[in-house]
Amino acid sequence: MIKEIIESYSILVQEFNILVDEPMENYTSFKIGGTADLVALPENRFELKDLLKRAWELDIPVTLFGRGTNLLITDRGIRGLVVITKQLKSRIQIIEKERDTITIFADAGERLSKVCQFAINNTLSGLEFAAGIPGTIGGAIIMNAGTKSGEMSTIIKSIEVLNQDTLEVETIGTDLLDFSYRHLNLSGIIVSAAITLKKGNQELIEQIFKHNLNRKNTSQPVSFASAGCFFKNPVVGRSAGELIDRAGLKGMSVNDAAVSEKHGNFIVNIGNASCEDILLLKQQIQKKVFEKFNIQLETEVRIEGE
Ligand code: EPU
Repeated sequence: MIKEIIESYSILVQEFNILVDEPMENYTSFKIGGTADLVALPENRFELKDLLKRAWELDIPVTLFGRGTNLLITDRGIRGLVVITKQLKSRIQIIEKERDTITIFADAGERLSKVCQFAINNTLSGLEFAAGIPGTIGGAIIMNAGTKSGEMSTIIKSIEVLNQDTLEVETIGTDLLDFSYRHLNLSGIIVSAAITLKKGNQELIEQIFKHNLNRKNTSQPVSFASAGCFFKNPVVGRSAGELIDRAGLKGMSVNDAAVSEKHGNFIVNIGNASCEDILLLKQQIQKKVFEKFNIQLETEVRIEGE
């Protein structure tokens, strides 16, 4: 079995540009994660397609992510191939103009912040909620990233998806996309998105972006390594951050994993935290919040690896 795995790995390494035994801590905002056996960063959809086709033929398990900003990778790392889509980008552009709506196109690996800047430069309104949200467009869509003032589902017109069975790229319109809170139920791999925005007022757009960014910077520990909000907000009642705060858990730590003093729903890596440290702290938070409020907090951050 091991011999077969080594053989299939070496075929992939010979045929594609692949990094071997790559530390994943360099690819996540948490700065945590053991090594991945194989890592590829395809630069266009054709490379992506060829790579996935070959990996599937060779029975190599594939894990996909973008800039790793909502991701916790285990200390033992990831077996098989990790495909990182953050190099999958071309030119953000306007593809359709109607009376007061404008549709823009971006590849999945494009930074959300760059798409926001494009909107500001072109006086387009609709992305203000996304000010300061890190990560790629693809990641933001699959997580249905958002805030109280908006989420990705409200501005997506369609996405292009690489179908895992046919290996064809197909366009899926927003009416067929099953978005929910911080989630898109999708099989297939997002390669690009068409986003519909409204022609707006330059001054107002800039003002709202600035306001949202300021709010984020003052209420969240943006200069610390983290994966953003760690838990989902409960459907009703107080937010996860407020519950953790009221339970008196700010500053609680397991080695270098700590509950942020600034925002209760952020677990920060204050030095050399391991995934194990983060998971132990997560359990303690869940236990304490449950004891105090009878509410079971659910993890928002995606966990990958063995
Ligand atoms: N609060 C506290 N103590 C804390 C943190 C918050 O009392 O330590 C209170 C705040 O005062 C406020 C309420 O809890 O009354 C909500 O806090 P906040 O406005 O910070 O919003 P949130 O619900 O904690 C959500 C998103 C964030 C997003 C902000 C900005 C989720 C899980 N979180 O946070 O998204 O940036 O709104 O509007 O939906 C993320 O998804 O990674 C993320 C950070």
